[in-house]
Amino acid sequence: MSTSTTQPPLGSASAALIHKAQQFYTLNYKPREMILDRGKGARLYDLDGKEYIDLSSGIAVSSLGHQHPKLLKALHRQSRKLWHTSNVFYTEPPIRLAEKLVELSGFARRVYLCNSGTEANEAAIKLVRKYAADKGRDPAHREIISFAGSFHGRTLAAVTATAQPKYHQGFEPLPPGFVYCSKFNDEAAISSMVSDKTCAIFVEPVQGEGGVVPAKPGFLKYLRSLCDNVGALLVVDEIQAGMGRTGTMFAYTQDGIVPDVVTLAKALGCGLPIGAMLVGEKASETFQFGSHGSTFGGNPVMSAVALEAIKILSSKQISESVQENHIIMMNMLDSFNRELDMFSELRGRGLMIGAELKSTYKGQANAIADLARKEGVLVLIAGPDVLRFLPPLNITKKEINRGLLRLRNALVKFKADMPHAA
Ligand SMILES: Cc1ncc(COP(=O)(O)O)c(C=O)c1O
Repeated sequence: MSTSTTQPPLGSASAALIHKAQQFYTLNYKPREMILDRGKGARLYDLDGKEYIDLSSGIAVSSLGHQHPKLLKALHRQSRKLWHTSNVFYTEPPIRLAEKLVELSGFARRVYLCNSGTEANEAAIKLVRKYAADKGRDPAHREIISFAGSFHGRTLAAVTATAQPKYHQGFEPLPPGFVYCSKFNDEAAISSMVSDKTCAIFVEPVQGEGGVVPAKPGFLKYLRSLCDNVGALLVVDEIQAGMGRTGTMFAYTQDGIVPDVVTLAKALGCGLPIGAMLVGEKASETFQFGSHGSTFGGNPVMSAVALEAIKILSSKQISESVQENHIIMMNMLDSFNRELDMFSELRGRGLMIGAELKSTYKGQANAIADLARKEGVLVLIAGPDVLRFLPPLNITKKEINRGLLRLRNALVKFKADMPHAA
């Protein structure tokens, strides 16, 4: 049975808005050509009324789908009380949120709240540098190591920590003190780089933008020991992989390590902008009055929603359904592949799944994702060769089935339109 809802021409209201966007926005994004208008659960609807199954969650953000009733209630309750005070004054929601994050993490002593993933990493970059400075290290001994394929954000320091040259080009001079390990998941490569110059290693437990590449078992443990040998801090960037997405609240717990710093954002606010840096004992006193700050960080409305979100995201029900749905999605993708032979590898953890395209389809991930969108399912890409699936963690089995059947329609059409690949 086909579940296809092939794209009708854009309605005039949508076309007019897209035209305005193209006229008025800076040109750093290239959104797909529809106007999303409303959402419910794992479904989105555009201005022309077309339905999409959301297997993207706004890039791992809307982890409880759209319009979750408990989040709406938290939002409404706080928005009627108090929106903003700045960090010159205390309010209750961010205090409760920090307490809950400390409790859930099991390692953190303190929390710094900000507005995005980039800001959480920017805070971590400053923290690890200051930690080293407080230990008497000169600037030459405050080097940060990150891995090829990593993504840590877009501000100048965070993008410099992002070890992908394509994000650096044109923004030079980049801040000094960042070095890159050319191979992720390679003990020999990283151990040859760590020295008394190293003040921190930044690592994603599953590289997201870099192609959905999980750290291999034992790799984070290895990094932990390398850091301990030279007095460096281990910073785990859980901005994409955290908050229940890989089947546990924090992905690092699957490797049995104790990090020094963990950065969070994306699903922390389930759609509202908030980020956090969790700091373990070693560096818990590093930030002192005046070290760092943010006008909006820890905003009471964002914090109230985040507090509600993490209560749900850390529930047994979510972790069990993530694990079950991982198997369902992998099996369906595998069956499409047995039929269509388009993927060279299916990988990932929990509901963070990547399908790498075979060499015949190299560079075509974006075209396939756009065709999938026309068929009524939203999927992401991770680089030019990988389709990436990040559905809401509370997606139903029926929605997965419907969404992936629409993806299959797109794959079938794509293959048929590439005669040399058929
Ligand atoms: C692992 C990781 N770190 C940092 C960031 C940057 O987060 P933001 O876009 O909220 O600044 C991202 C965003 O994709 C990410 O995936």
